[in-house]
Amino acid sequence: MSEKPVEMLTEVEARTELARLGLEIAAANRAYHTLDAPEISDAAFDALKRRNAAIEARFPGLKRPDSSSDQVGAAVADGFGKVAHQVRMLSLENAFAAEEVAEFDERVQKFLGLSEVLTYTAEPKIDGLSLSLRYEGGVLVQAATRGDGEVGENVTENARTIADIPQQLTGAPRDLPAILEVRGEVYMSHADFAALNDRQAAAGDKPFANPRNAAAGSLRQLDARVTASRPLRFFAYAWGEVSAPLAQTQIDAITRLNALGFQTNPLTALCDGPLEMLAQYRLIEDRRATLGYDIDGVVYKVNDLSLQARLGFRSSTPRWALAHKFPAELAWTELLGIDIQVGRTGALSPVARLQPVTVGGVVVSNATLHNEDYIAGRDSKGEVIRGGKDIRVGDWVQVYRAGDVIPKIADLDLSRRKSDAQPYDFPQLCPECGSEAHREEGDSVRRCTGGLICPAQAVERLKHFVSRAAFDIEGLGAKQVELFFNDPILPVKTPADIFTLYARDAANPLQKLRNRDGFGEVSATKLFAAIEAKRTIPLDRLIFALGIRHVGEVAAGLLARHYSTWAAFEAGVAKAEPGSPEWAELTAIDGVGAVMAQSLADAFQNPAERAAIDNLVTGNGSDYKGLVVEPAAARGVVDSPVAGKTVVFTGSLEKMTRAEAKSRAEALGAKVAGSVSARTDLLVAGPGAGSKAKDAERLGVEVIDEEAWLRLIGA
Ligand code: IVH
Repeated sequence: MSEKPVEMLTEVEARTELARLGLEIAAANRAYHTLDAPEISDAAFDALKRRNAAIEARFPGLKRPDSSSDQVGAAVADGFGKVAHQVRMLSLENAFAAEEVAEFDERVQKFLGLSEVLTYTAEPKIDGLSLSLRYEGGVLVQAATRGDGEVGENVTENARTIADIPQQLTGAPRDLPAILEVRGEVYMSHADFAALNDRQAAAGDKPFANPRNAAAGSLRQLDARVTASRPLRFFAYAWGEVSAPLAQTQIDAITRLNALGFQTNPLTALCDGPLEMLAQYRLIEDRRATLGYDIDGVVYKVNDLSLQARLGFRSSTPRWALAHKFPAELAWTELLGIDIQVGRTGALSPVARLQPVTVGGVVVSNATLHNEDYIAGRDSKGEVIRGGKDIRVGDWVQVYRAGDVIPKIADLDLSRRKSDAQPYDFPQLCPECGSEAHREEGDSVRRCTGGLICPAQAVERLKHFVSRAAFDIEGLGAKQVELFFNDPILPVKTPADIFTLYARDAANPLQKLRNRDGFGEVSATKLFAAIEAKRTIPLDRLIFALGIRHVGEVAAGLLARHYSTWAAFEAGVAKAEPGSPEWAELTAIDGVGAVMAQSLADAFQNPAERAAIDNLVTGNGSDYKGLVVEPAAARGVVDSPVAGKTVVFTGSLEKMTRAEAKSRAEALGAKVAGSVSARTDLLVAGPGAGSKAKDAERLGVEVIDEEAWLRLIGA
């Protein structure tokens, strides 16, 4: 049997392989249907059929007349299909304190240039998981989870089993929208959750930690019959793509969704200004215990949908909404020890090991201790916290959880401190590699200086490299990376090593991966194919995957869109140093500051780091040919006269605030920069424009006034 990934088969090998697969599939079919005695598992059968189909897709000319691909019978789903959301599914900005609600209102007013009482909706924030339902001609055609906000999982069959989700919208056909994506939360009631856990226990299965986990686990079942047996519910609270506006206000849109057949939350109310918003918050908080399902806060939304449209979005949250979370839940427990974890960027992070305790329905045994100052009783500005009490092993500490975040320690009880308790001595050397752990001026974090020689940093970088927003290699998650990192036969120490796995395994006559524990013919082949598939990678993912300090997903997107190609990006950062034209270009990107620029320059100018990057991107000159980096396109395909143009605003604008102008321009595909350079296409100058107008004149950049700008964008 050949274990070669399909991508690597020659035509001759493919022909032989198709013949073999044809025989095996026919034999398995016979055993199953005719003899009623299956010889191989469904999964193995499915793998044969998929391999057959994959080879046919690569060599269409070799397809056999008796191909199993032409036989009817749905293949068993191997995970869920992917769905690209037409309109991104966003998350919400969080607030905890009452003052933050007033600040939110002020920000909205300021952005819009208004000073009047604004109306908002306030409604419970349901603690479940979000789902997008697509209706065409009033009929449910697709259901997708949020995923990363851009691409979710296709869970249509499962969603069809939920009673609250209509298969068909209510109303006369001519009144129904041609396209409507309804968004809301799937959740489980307390009573249903308790009964489900009783059933799990009776069947000897693991109970769910809380209703949200139970809802998520129930929706994401490969077998829709399992979902059908789980009592899930759904509240609609938002929408994605619509063929015609649902209404002019948020509240009317919700009423419309209700009329179309959805459950909407009865505690949704209109509030004029922050005082009324807070009153509704308190009312919902009072009712919380009797609702019968979990909520974790209140969501406020600007009611007027035309104002929502003007406010638009930040990178992942709308400017027109705020989630006001309920205070975190607290519990007391004993601090058993402090471990130091070394992260991807070398940060030494102290972790509290706790006597397990239940906080808000979840058992907590670890909590973050942030950094050495935090343990000593100081915040990042050096100011005293917890009345200056330091945290010692053996102390009684108060743990809290706020939302999904890692538990934290709020306080400690000095009266229960043991007389021999010692102040914690924060390590000065990296516990993983022994290198000096250094604390930079003004940084609260101590970092290991070992770089790639530190095994902890190296392995964390690899985990980051394969993570979902980076290379996302199927079958190669954090756990597998850790195993390969320490593997004596097929070690993976740097990202490039991932791409030489197949060649190294093929060249090794002895222990093949397919013969190892935890692997088989199918899974080894699948892994090699999954790795090969990711050799082609979009530029933004590659930049993010490098794991450079201060360069997160959003920054990677900005850099990719600015430079478009790997070659341009590489040339730009490798030569960047304060004062150079490359530096000026890099720091002129809106959203890239000096700290990030320096971090990028450091990574590309350090010989060891640089060698690792080059090995990954351009290959090793023999069995690994390097990556195929897909150039970045501007977000969405925006058809507008300013798409792809770099625009600078200066002087005062009269029709809208600077923030709104910038947000509009970006929504139309323009890049908005803070200063004028040779790359600027357009300067929009209002009254009082100063040095930027002069710069534009000197560089020959086109200058227009606000009126002309508004005409240009068709506003
Ligand atoms: S509105 C564009 N309303 O909270 C804004 N979200 O923390 C779309 N959620 O991803 C969200 N209850 O899953 C909205 N009444 C509510 C909600 C709600 C729960 C969830 C939703 C979202 C998450 C953000």
